Formats: sequence, structure tokens, C-alpha cells
Amino acid sequence: MRLIILGAPGSGKGTQAARIAERLDMLQISTGDLLRAEVKARSEIGRKAGAIMNGGNLVPDDIILHLIEDRIRQDDAINGYIFDGFPRNIEQAKALDRLMGKVKHHIDAVVDLEVPDDVVITRTAGRRVCKACNAVYHVELNPPREEGVCDACGGELIQRDDEKEETVRNRLKVYKEQTAPVRDFYRAKGLLRSFDGTQTMATLTDQIISALDTV
Ligand code: AP5
Ligand code: MG
Repeated sequence: MRLIILGAPGSGKGTQAARIAERLDMLQISTGDLLRAEVKARSEIGRKAGAIMNGGNLVPDDIILHLIEDRIRQDDAINGYIFDGFPRNIEQAKALDRLMGKVKHHIDAVVDLEVPDDVVITRTAGRRVCKACNAVYHVELNPPREEGVCDACGGELIQRDDEKEETVRNRLKVYKEQTAPVRDFYRAKGLLRSFDGTQTMATLTDQIISALDTV
């Protein structure tokens, strides 16, 4: 199965994508994580993307499409995948259609998480991510067993560079202007499934998985 998960910054895309990927034995492909890895490696892409990400703006489409095509062609994508953070504007959605045609894959469903702005602000403010494996926690809503340490791999938990309040507000603005229209694009294709993203993580995962049964 090949899926997309859409939602505002902090709506829980990464959290749900990881849980769905584990339950359905598929690969989570997060463009945010791919870009942060490039920034960490100080690659050419990372040098271009870092400043744009810290301002909360979108990285150019050609960079994103290059990363996506490269990733879906790797062996571990064979069982299917879930895109987390992609596509993020209509141009990327159209380019994904072309890419799916080229590699003879297709998208089975698009999961849309609905979460109001105040919840998004609380969630991003308390988020911590593992420096080593990218697992996502929240200091109050989803704390690790030991403060500052990843349950999954023992790695150090850090705050992302784009969590300043000003940057989060711009990420929300960019989402409303550029990413929200992507929902209409997939609604028109009959692929969109919307969910109340304010529910507990476990309830939401169960709801999404059972809705996917009918896909
Ligand atoms: P990206 O990494 O995709 O960030 P984002 O869209 O802003 O989304 P987040 O990762 O902040 O939130 P999330 O929805 O994954 O929520 P999470 O699960 O962590 O992108 C970062 C930047 O990279 C962009 O700004 C852009 O510059 C660039 N970029 C990336 N992709 C791009 C593309 N395609 N094109 C161009 N540029 C691109 O959850 C948030 C918190 O809430 C966590 O602490 C979690 O523990 C908690 N939480 C989650 N679910 C629940 C729940 N149900 N109940 C309680 N707490 C919860
Ligand atoms: Mg994320």
C-alpha cells in the first residue's frame, strides 16, 4: 500500500506515520527527516535547505522531488510507503502523479489530520526528537521513560531548530496558503480520508488502520 499523510505542522503526521508504517510493515518517508539528515551531513542540499527550514518556508520543489525519487527506488520501499510532509503544494502533488506514472506505482489513500491551531502550538512547543533515530516525543503529552533519552534507541532527545514561536507561526501560514489546497486536489480524486487529530495517539492509529481496510 502507498499512502500520504497530510496535516498542519505539529498535527501528528510523523507520530502517526511511524505507527502506521510499523503496523502495516511499510516505509515512512518523511521529507523533513530527509532534509534534516542533509543539513546534519552538511551536504550541498543541506546547505541550501537549512536556512529555508529555519525560516519556516518551503524548500524548492526540485530538491524535494530528487530526494523522493531516490528514496522510493531503494529496496526497502518494496512493501509500500507512507509520505509524511510531502506533497506540500499543488506543484509537488502534480509532480508526484507524474513520478507514480513513471515508476508504475499509485497512491491508495491520503490520510488528513485535522487539528486546531492552539493544539498545534502546544504540541510543537513541547516536542522533542531523537537525534539518532528521529523518534518523536512530547515533554508532557508523550514523555520518554527517562527524561532526555530515546526509549527506542537510547539516543539524545533534542528540540528541532525550527521550533521558535515565530518560525512555527510562519510554518502554519505556509501550510494554510500552500499545503491546505493539496487536500482539495486529493478530495477531487476520491482519495482523501479526514480524521480528528486531537484524539489520543492510539485511538487515532486504530481509526486510520481500520479505515484503510476498505481501501
Ligand atoms: P516537517 O518536518 O515535515 O515539519 P512539519 O510539517 O512542520 O510537521 P512537524 O514535523 O512539525 O509535525 P508533525 O505533523 O510531524 O507532528 P509530530 O508527529 O512531530 O518539515 C520541516 C521543514 O522542512 C518545513 O518547514 C520545510 O522547510 C521543509 N520541508 C519538509 N518537507 C518539504 C516539502 N515536501 N517541500 C518543501 N519543503 C519541505 O507531533 C507533534 C508533537 O505532538 C509531538 O511532540 C508529538 O509527541 C505530539 N503528538 C502527536 N500526536 C499526538 C496526539 N494524538 N496526542 C497528543 N500529542 C501528540
Ligand atoms: Mg514531522
